[in-house]
Amino acid sequence: MDKILVTGGLGFIGSHTVVELQEAGYNVVIIDDLSNSSEKVLGGITAITGKKPIFEKIDLKEKTDVEAFFKKHNDVKGVIHFAASKAVGESVKEPLLYYENNIGTLVYLLKELKKLPGASFIFSSSCTVYGQADELPITESAPVKQAESPYGNTKQIGEEIIRDTCKVVPTLKAIALRYFNPIGAHASTEIGELPIGVPQNLVPFITQTGIGLREELSVFGDDYPTPDGTCIRDYIHVVDLAKAHVVALQRLLQNNNKESYETFNLGTGKGSSVLEVVQSFERVSGEKLNYKIVGKREGDIISAYADTNKANDELGWKTKLSLDEAMLSAWKWEQKVRAKE
Ligand code: UD1
Repeated sequence: MDKILVTGGLGFIGSHTVVELQEAGYNVVIIDDLSNSSEKVLGGITAITGKKPIFEKIDLKEKTDVEAFFKKHNDVKGVIHFAASKAVGESVKEPLLYYENNIGTLVYLLKELKKLPGASFIFSSSCTVYGQADELPITESAPVKQAESPYGNTKQIGEEIIRDTCKVVPTLKAIALRYFNPIGAHASTEIGELPIGVPQNLVPFITQTGIGLREELSVFGDDYPTPDGTCIRDYIHVVDLAKAHVVALQRLLQNNNKESYETFNLGTGKGSSVLEVVQSFERVSGEKLNYKIVGKREGDIISAYADTNKANDELGWKTKLSLDEAMLSAWKWEQKVRAKE
């Protein structure tokens, strides 16, 4: 079976994708610099799949290390590139760090892929490229808006770099997957999200509040023009998202792609408000969540959810898991992580 490189394969989405790849029979090599992950995740992946993936601790900013990796693993057929920094606020304070981490490393990888006889490349992009879309649900042809943050800009620029490279490198095929809001954890509770410090994202903040690690959730604004006044997002179970990566990779490996560079939205197609996510948590956990309404968070968009037709029709992929299932898995994971501490 083909050898697939997963960069950032010990991170949240990366680790779930490694599991799905191994379960589909692929040989996985992980590159991770452990800057926002732990080597312990390898144990979780091995416990689920019965197979330990190869792990190379490499910082992709080290160009010579990237070159050496591809000399050693010159039989790599596909690359799923997760490794990147993703904290919006930090990116505003440290733009160069983000351009170096997210853009510099992408260029080094593509330079190596150019040398291979053939390569399939999957890029972690984000619905952040659409900003506040004029029409909902958001289709892939919605205009890419001026980025709100250096982080968002790295996703836009990253997509452009890949598109331009595919135009001139006939052996390279690529898909950019634009994620909506990935949440949840593997049903085995062997792997899940491990935010470092105070979580910035809604769901880990909710589960940490539920377990008593945080006093209360601050809901950022309740007077948005939405039915209950709180912002709306498309929360997708990370296992559904991980499976989409396998399907997208297979599309490229089997030459079923229509163009050398394609983009797909990955979401459920359903929008949920912040309060609906809180209610879902309360329903599946049986716990009451402490929360208060506070002022709006700067830069938040009001509402974003995916038009899933392109991914459904072209990839033959659909989400299967509900918001409640995702919240339950996130809650079980949180309980397991804290029980270990
Ligand atoms: C955020 C980023 C997005 C990035 C994604 C990556 C912003 C504006 N957007 O997405 O660019 O791709 O993370 O992970 O930073 N909320 C609360 N209280 C909290 C946390 C969140 O009310 O403590 C609300 C937010 O206002 C939002 C929703 O929950 O309405 C989801 O927030 P979050 O999980 O941060 O995701 P995004 O804002 O969609």
